Amino acid sequence: MAAGQLERGFAQQVGGIALPPAHVTGSESVAEPPSAPLSERYRTIRAHTEALAAMLSPEDQQVQSMPDASPTKWHRAHTSWFFETFLLRPHLPGYRVFHERFSLLFNSYYEAVGTRVARASRGLLTRPGADEIAAYRAHVDTAMAELLRQCAAEAAEQRSELVELGLHHEQQHQELILTDIKHALAANPLHPAYRPDTATVADAALPPLQWLEISRGIYEIGAAGGGFAFDNEFPRHQTLLPGCRIATRPVSVGEYLAFIDDGGYRRPELWLSDGWAKVLEEGWQAPLYWERESGAWTCYTLHGDRSLRRDEPVCHVSYYEAAAYAAWAGKRLPTEQEWEVARREYGGRWPAPEQWREAQPRVHPRPLAAGFHQDVWEWTGSAYLPYPGYRAAAGAVGEYNGKFMVNQMVLRGRSFATPAGHARPTYRNFFPPAARWQFSGIRLAEDS
Ligand SMILES: [Fe+2]
Repeated sequence: MAAGQLERGFAQQVGGIALPPAHVTGSESVAEPPSAPLSERYRTIRAHTEALAAMLSPEDQQVQSMPDASPTKWHRAHTSWFFETFLLRPHLPGYRVFHERFSLLFNSYYEAVGTRVARASRGLLTRPGADEIAAYRAHVDTAMAELLRQCAAEAAEQRSELVELGLHHEQQHQELILTDIKHALAANPLHPAYRPDTATVADAALPPLQWLEISRGIYEIGAAGGGFAFDNEFPRHQTLLPGCRIATRPVSVGEYLAFIDDGGYRRPELWLSDGWAKVLEEGWQAPLYWERESGAWTCYTLHGDRSLRRDEPVCHVSYYEAAAYAAWAGKRLPTEQEWEVARREYGGRWPAPEQWREAQPRVHPRPLAAGFHQDVWEWTGSAYLPYPGYRAAAGAVGEYNGKFMVNQMVLRGRSFATPAGHARPTYRNFFPPAARWQFSGIRLAEDS
């Protein structure tokens, strides 16, 4: 995790055109400072994973509904393997490995660590059972408590940074537990609920869609250090934006229905070539989990089946659908740089973790409300590429982000399922353009 340093005295001439001074931002571009000691946050975050899994039976936790989605049980074990592999084995003297061959089962993609079960075969791992995974987690937690005591006593910065990485990694998997189990439960014709909720609420008035002006200029982008960020958010650097307008909120379900009703899924002229091929191949007619029966739309949610709410942000769309919708609307998607600048200039304060934390985790986007922050990740028009001067971290953890910088698109923001304290304005989420099972939506932009 090397923080990039940028000189503020960057030349104010690009291509002979005089430009306004670079926009320089303050501390809000970094993650919130940790509000609790590392050991306390470790316990809280690890317990949250178990709380998410506790809603599920051992049978639920076993299933893998597609190669991209992993069983809940696997997520619980893999996040423990991460701490065991990158913290306990190298840094806790005398650590006893829980099971020598678990690395074969629970290594995700780290070539430097060794061979592993193919991603698509994770659902075949009926053993170890859910109880043994719980014992594995408890074993790792006991050893991590000792390691964290040592870190605190020795002010061990490098180990503490690795613990931070392990905690943010676990938080990423907490969101994946929900996206993956939603896909699995939706595959059951009975559409069981992850968390039943019988509340029915009438559609509310949408906040008006307005346009935020981003003026032409040089802006600073990326993480500045001073708080946790993944290596792909570094180095902070300057970028030239040509000027644009960006929507104040994501696209609503009601607005997306107008695209469908206008033949959006039947008009190849709106689609990228690869996207249109997917429409034909997969028979896409609506976002994932939507169904139309006798002219009425319903959607599967983690609360079970529901009627569509027109005031919610549209969710479970691919990049291809986002781009087609934007073409239909006569707009485009923002670049990730435009998104970051808009969030910084108009987004207000990023919600503090305590404001974000609720008694029970949310499992569905809230209706759209006033304000920049909403409940779905937002596809940008930017390919997932290294920032200028990017360097992957040394060692096996260097495989965390850098090797995926091809064939994926960047999503910005956060979703309702993003854990408290995990997201930040510079966060770069990324998925392949056809992915629909994430909590992904659309924000529009246009040239100014
Ligand atoms: Fe992972």
